[in-house]
Amino acid sequence: MCGIIAYVGHREVRPVLLDGLSRLEYRGYDSAGLATLADGKLDILKKVGRIAELTRHVASKPRTPAFQGISHTRWATHGEPSDANAHPHADGTGKLVVVHNGVIENFQPLKRKLEAEGHLFASATDTEVLAHLIGKAYQAGMEGSARRLSDAVRTALSGIKGTYGVAVMHEDFPGLIVGARRGSPLVLGIGEGEMFLSSDATALLPYTHKVVYLKDFDVTEIRADRFQIESMTHDTADYQVEELDYAPDAAERGAFAHYMLKEIHEQPQTLENAVRGRLNGEESSAQLGGLNLTPAELRDIDRVIVLGCGTALHAGMVGAQMLENMAFVAAETDFASEFRFKNRPLPRNTIFFAVSQSGETADTLGALREARRKGFRCLGICNSVGSTIARESDGGMYMHAGPEIGVAATKSFVSQVALFGLLTLTLGRMRQMSASTGSKIIRSFEKLPDQVRKILAGEEHIAAIARKYAQANSMLFLGRQYNYPIALEAALKLKEISYIHAAGFPASELKHGIIALIDPATPTVILCPQDSLYEKNISTMQEVRARKGPIIAVATEGDEEIRHHADDVIYVPRTVEMLQPILNIIPLQLFAYHAAVALGRDVDKPRNLAKSVTVE
Ligand code: AGP
Repeated sequence: MCGIIAYVGHREVRPVLLDGLSRLEYRGYDSAGLATLADGKLDILKKVGRIAELTRHVASKPRTPAFQGISHTRWATHGEPSDANAHPHADGTGKLVVVHNGVIENFQPLKRKLEAEGHLFASATDTEVLAHLIGKAYQAGMEGSARRLSDAVRTALSGIKGTYGVAVMHEDFPGLIVGARRGSPLVLGIGEGEMFLSSDATALLPYTHKVVYLKDFDVTEIRADRFQIESMTHDTADYQVEELDYAPDAAERGAFAHYMLKEIHEQPQTLENAVRGRLNGEESSAQLGGLNLTPAELRDIDRVIVLGCGTALHAGMVGAQMLENMAFVAAETDFASEFRFKNRPLPRNTIFFAVSQSGETADTLGALREARRKGFRCLGICNSVGSTIARESDGGMYMHAGPEIGVAATKSFVSQVALFGLLTLTLGRMRQMSASTGSKIIRSFEKLPDQVRKILAGEEHIAAIARKYAQANSMLFLGRQYNYPIALEAALKLKEISYIHAAGFPASELKHGIIALIDPATPTVILCPQDSLYEKNISTMQEVRARKGPIIAVATEGDEEIRHHADDVIYVPRTVEMLQPILNIIPLQLFAYHAAVALGRDVDKPRNLAKSVTVE
């Protein structure tokens, strides 16, 4: 949801900014811009469209070399995508520029007040109001005692409601960039004679692995050879310099046509990374060090509530079923965005899990804060190390999935489900789960990576089926129990990247109304593993067939019977019922991917979406 990259150092700044923006493009891609400062003069270039447009625009304008700059890729909130609304935005003097990720909720009254004072605005954005506010505070400071640019930034930010990650430059302060954050991520990158600010640490991987994750209300000043961090709320700002634990090429696409495809193919390793060091064969259990709960506290949990959005919520839905069926703990899920405005009476020993790949999703963060405010223990399941949700949780589990760049989440989903599997093993073994069941789950976990490899090896068959149905206007996805969230997730994947309308339902709901949609032009994907509900799924398929609806079945390897009921069959290996969703989603990720490619969609940057949704 908008990406910021800022640089001050010894390199020519424009290539650094454009490279950083292209790495952050997954956060928003409707317009982009940069501002550089050289010889005491600001130079702003911005363009509606993708980073490629900005790159062409920059290349067409020869400039004097510059060694500091701020830049931005936008996902529009206030004001349509246009050159004028693209960041950076300047104040009234044109000597100060701002890039901003977030939303200033009270920008309208602030703008009216500024207009009454004679300020003129060139865009419809909230960010331009912020630029004017900082400029105004700076002017006032020049006449008073506060002479630092960072003081003006603090003064302006103290009057706004909303969220921000910002970077600011001023012609009066060559060699300086000021950054600040509240609610939107901002990472400081520390290089040799160079400093960076970025919305995401992975954009810094080619330059440095040394970072500081700024906290809410931190204000930083960066110069080529030093940085300083202060807090707007505390006398001193405590910060930690951390070493990024990623290979330099972790965020590269390599030989794959799209990040999404690369990430689908990474899933065997994703599962290995999620599980590594966490299985305890001796006790037929799992060991999850980061939960920060004693065995007694784990035994005392009466209820688990899993919060998340989109794909993360779907993973939570699988997790909640695992916890109830196998660990005998009452568990449920809620949309993070709904939970935070509810007032539910809950037992004291309720524990919350906030699930989020990015760790920055505003709805999930808001729900986590609400639950904590009410005194509940909240654990996080996150991929991004040092993210806000990870930091504000009482404990949790990291996914160790590596950067996920594709806007459509894939490997983070299987990782999240795997982590819920480990949690189920841990809590289950403290309750009624037998040692033999625990051992069986462990053996199944160990086989998963190779089983995923086997599914991936069948990609061409899945691609052919996807191409066959890619012209459909609408598709249905049906599944029961553990596979109902998979139906939801598969439908979400298809919608997001192919723009084919798709909806997931519990298979048995078909006859309660959805069946009216069945016709020869509406394919139904049915998840039909050979489990306890196999016959019921066969009945559902017959109901679809009777209405001449085409059927694609995701079935268990070796099931020949299913061929009599479906037009196309995708086989997946068998595992224990609670882990089957991990295998079942893989072919449907590939199905969505190849349908989107067949339709010529921009898979990694689907229209209207952004990877990390940091607005409410
Ligand atoms: C998934 O494909 C989506 N892009 C989206 O639903 C995503 O899962 C959701 O916004 C939550 O993101 P998070 O995991 O980073 O919190």
